[in-house]
Amino acid sequence: MKILAIETSCDETSASVVERKSGAQFVRVLSLVTSTSLPEHAMTGGIIPESAARRQIEYILPVVRQALTDGGCGEIGDIRKNIDAIAVTQGPGLIGSLLVGVECAKTLSYLSSTPLIVVNHLLAHLYANFVQDENAQNDEKKISFPTFPFIGLIVSGGHTDILLFKSHSDFKWLGGTRDDAIGEALDKIGRKLGLSYPAGPEIEKRAGKIKACSIKFNSPLLHSDDFDFSFSGLKTEVARYIDSSKNLTTPEIDEICYATQKAAFDVVVAKTFRAAEVYNTSSIVVGGGVAANQNLFELFCDEKQKKKLGVEIFFPKKKYTTDNAAMIGAFAAFNPGSVLWKEVRAMPELYFA
Ligand code: KG4
Ligand code: ZN
Repeated sequence: MKILAIETSCDETSASVVERKSGAQFVRVLSLVTSTSLPEHAMTGGIIPESAARRQIEYILPVVRQALTDGGCGEIGDIRKNIDAIAVTQGPGLIGSLLVGVECAKTLSYLSSTPLIVVNHLLAHLYANFVQDENAQNDEKKISFPTFPFIGLIVSGGHTDILLFKSHSDFKWLGGTRDDAIGEALDKIGRKLGLSYPAGPEIEKRAGKIKACSIKFNSPLLHSDDFDFSFSGLKTEVARYIDSSKNLTTPEIDEICYATQKAAFDVVVAKTFRAAEVYNTSSIVVGGGVAANQNLFELFCDEKQKKKLGVEIFFPKKKYTTDNAAMIGAFAAFNPGSVLWKEVRAMPELYFA
């Protein structure tokens, strides 16, 4: 089955053609084209929804056309012939941005009489782990894919959630953040430190320079008997520390980055492993922008060693960690139930219904 997937939940305009062969455990990415308005938002230190939506409108058709031709599927007029389904992010996200992708997908579905599949962006972040990059060299190719049951951990700019998946269509939300998302907290702390937006990548780079650190921040809810998170207290603790220190030097900023990252990641790793133990799962599957962090991946691998658990750890290839349409196509390929275009609307508050 070949799917044309569209993702426009925030500042990325992304389209992809993915293919899942019958019975395959993964999808192949035949094309992935992404335009972003991020540099504009970096100048203002955060996403401005109105400008993100305007860029989505400008980018959507060129991006979809390019994805179709790169994927060997011809032009928009050839969708009926070459594409089996159209998948689109329904939510959550910014309403103006979402509307562009959803209305575009509905129009294409109507004009080409092609089934339309709506996708929850958050679940799709986990499905980046079921993606095989068509252009990957042999040594870069993913050779194994998650098996059920698995614990899914979503760590993005807007969300931090733990879920239990018994099958592609049977999942249960176990817990999530009570306030800020992990990426949001990193970005806000980065802003306070004068780092550019989004701050996650620079925090990782600076933290990587530290061998020994004299600062320690608390990991909120580390010992609570649930699968919840809270990152707003960490943000306040770091902000107070910054306010009480005069003229921070570069090495001091690096140490703050290290201590922040450690406090945030320790709780995420601990709770995910606890969920994997409680539910006796065979895989831990991580997705979302913060999963681009190599240190987070290493912490998961270290914890697996320490606990001697037979659980497999899955992180997506870096290019599939942040928002992209290939993950939307992957989710749709494993959950291909379609809906009539007339009944579809963008849902900015969509969660785990
Ligand atoms: O998943 P995503 O692209 O967008 C949302 O759906 O929210 O995630 C963006 C988030 C930002 O908060 C960004 O700072 C964070 O992912 N991020 C990282 C790294 N790369 C991106 N956080 C930590 N380390 C990174 N290397
Ligand atoms: Zn996302």
